[in-house]
Amino acid sequence: MGKRKAIQDFFEMKQKREPISFITSYDYPTATFAENAGMDMILVGDSLGMCVYGYDGTMPVTMDQMIVHSEAVRRGAMGTFVIGDMPFLSYQVSDQEAVENSGRFFKEANVDAVKLEGGVRVASRIRAIVDAGMLVMGHIGLTPQSSSQLGGFKAQGRTLESAKAQVQDALAVQEAGAGMILLEAIPPEVTGYITELLSIPVLSIGAGPHCDGQLLIVSDMLGIFEAFTPKFVKRYTEVAKVSTEALTAYVEDVRSGAFPEPQHSYLMIPEELEKFEEWKKRGK
Ligand code: KIV
Repeated sequence: MGKRKAIQDFFEMKQKREPISFITSYDYPTATFAENAGMDMILVGDSLGMCVYGYDGTMPVTMDQMIVHSEAVRRGAMGTFVIGDMPFLSYQVSDQEAVENSGRFFKEANVDAVKLEGGVRVASRIRAIVDAGMLVMGHIGLTPQSSSQLGGFKAQGRTLESAKAQVQDALAVQEAGAGMILLEAIPPEVTGYITELLSIPVLSIGAGPHCDGQLLIVSDMLGIFEAFTPKFVKRYTEVAKVSTEALTAYVEDVRSGAFPEPQHSYLMIPEELEKFEEWKKRGK
């Protein structure tokens, strides 16, 4: 386990133009894989609604679910910077609820930061959380929790009006005191400009190569979640395919008797086996 990076390290990486590696994780095993791979940051994303629970979006995800998964990720990645994702309705209602729910992530799951979606319209929420002493990552562009207002899971910033709105949102997030910002599904021409404009580290998910770091959803890049794959995903392996093949082979082995083999059983101690055989012969 290396030394966990702090927000100052990410500012330094931005200055030195050292790209920040960022991945989602929802459980202990993938958190250990990410840490062992040397990942800089982990997001416990509310995308677990789709990737872990099989919901058709992120809206049903609760604070309690997010806390349980964040605790597991923290246990698997003690040396990695972990961010808890604020689920729908955990911060939209009031600044007070935003502070209380952010506080739960820090108190119960020992995260390093929380993330919330929105720009100008959540500026007061970000300010309230920051004023309570917690580190915030903003998230603008395609914000899944407001996808119905955006007309679906659609890229943002593709027209001049929308590009200007993304820039205003990014500035509002920084001015409200966020320590980092995530840009989702915004064209590189816009995100390159935002990355130069802002002093805080700018992370990308589907927002091109000019940002200070890159995020992918672990279930997409490992080939675990196959229902839908966004354009920006690079698949590094095929876990669902490999796992299904392995499970099919197991089913066949059980049915044919090829499993278990002798090495898969515990043997009796030889002298005890002799006694057992005699005992059986005696009929008791
Ligand atoms: O929940 C999540 O994983 C996210 C990403 C889509 C950015 O918020």
